[in-house]
Amino acid sequence: MERYAIRGGNALEGDVVISGAKNAALGILAAAIMTDEEVVIENVPFVNDTRTLLKAIENIGATVRYIDRHKVAICGAGIKGDEGLAVDDEYIRKIRASYYLIGALLGKYKYANVALPGGCDIGARPIDLHIKGFETLGAEVDIASGGRVEAKATELKGAHIYLDTVSVGATINIMLAATLAEGKTTIENAAKEPHIVDVANFLNTMGANIKGAGTDVIRVRGVARLHGAEYSIIPDQIEAGTFMAMAVATRGNVLIRNVIPKHMEAISSKLVDMGARVIEYDDCIRVMADGALRATQVKTLPYPGFPTDMQAQMAAALCLTDGISMVTESIFENRFRYVSELTRMGARIQLKGNTAFITGMPKLTGASLVASDLRAGAALVIAALAAEGVSSIESINYVKRGYEDFDAKIRALGGDIIITDSDSELEAFKRGMSVVKQKA
Ligand code: UD1
Repeated sequence: MERYAIRGGNALEGDVVISGAKNAALGILAAAIMTDEEVVIENVPFVNDTRTLLKAIENIGATVRYIDRHKVAICGAGIKGDEGLAVDDEYIRKIRASYYLIGALLGKYKYANVALPGGCDIGARPIDLHIKGFETLGAEVDIASGGRVEAKATELKGAHIYLDTVSVGATINIMLAATLAEGKTTIENAAKEPHIVDVANFLNTMGANIKGAGTDVIRVRGVARLHGAEYSIIPDQIEAGTFMAMAVATRGNVLIRNVIPKHMEAISSKLVDMGARVIEYDDCIRVMADGALRATQVKTLPYPGFPTDMQAQMAAALCLTDGISMVTESIFENRFRYVSELTRMGARIQLKGNTAFITGMPKLTGASLVASDLRAGAALVIAALAAEGVSSIESINYVKRGYEDFDAKIRALGGDIIITDSDSELEAFKRGMSVVKQKA
């Protein structure tokens, strides 16, 4: 079983280039099958989630061709979209964003049959808003036994849809279906995350007519068909934020390249509150920290608020500050499973309801740890890099779902991390075999 072995204590220094946004890619790759013409997408992060989604769409008849590691050509012409077409469970249960295939197939073929999505276990993740949206557009939606969603319509008609909870997934999914509906759809109380804007921009490049993405009212005028396009995905806000938190936790100095600084504001401002220095350039951010940092308060909120996908990584950095920090999770109810692991490293964290009270301390100590989900795994890596001694982290498949070459990028910044599936290699690493020293 693969795990990370990490020797903490090195301040991370140097440049890191951020990959394309995983969550934008998942929406865009699903949307790409909505035309029968070829679509070429660049800056696709080479992570397990995107590869799984690509396998799923290949499996229903689309052609998928990697032009290079980050550039994919997709053609949806071969999909037989009539009733009976079912997206294979094997792929779909592994990833959350499989549900975007419901919106994409329903829009294009007026029929979709997709297994209920999997993904990280971070709490109840209902799709009632997605279903309500499809029904308002005129679809009949059934959840069959065995957990498949079947959606069908004789025609989709534009409608007024109000989302009573701000949902990234529902906003994108409804936008997908509405793109090929007849007439005008208004999505009110829409989510405003950068990747919603990216999916909308991509659909518009294919000939859709979507206005207002990035605000809380999105207007979609349905079009009869979409055409081929070339598109490059935005940089990953969360990967960038993770490296920013890592630079701060290790008291390093890192230039984060290929980012959109505007997308990072909620994260940057918290790091500045803590006493870090954050310098913004056009498409890079430098993050520097040394010495004592201050505690702060963080509350996750829909964009432009502080992202729930950065909550755990921020908490890891806050373990090493002066004072008591409060971290409140207001999107998902099960996003504190990393707390028990950080506690094993000596962190002092008390959970009360949906708030973690973190009493900062001067150091953490390496420990044997298990990642409970993607972002929790990233948080443990941050803590381990900043800790004294060696840590091992199991269940790194979660991390590989969303971070491209995570270990290699960290090594390039001077972090002492390897992936190993051998106990003897782990023991050798604990005894002092250092990858960084080895390479030097
Ligand atoms: C997406 C992201 C995920 C991120 C989350 C919040 C992808 C593939 N995943 O997840 O990484 O953590 O946004 O930024 O892009 N809700 C309902 N009914 C629904 C849908 C959602 O009640 O039909 C609730 C959820 O329980 C949650 C809140 O709405 O409390 C937000 O969820 P949502 O934004 O939909 O998250 P995901 O799309 O699952």
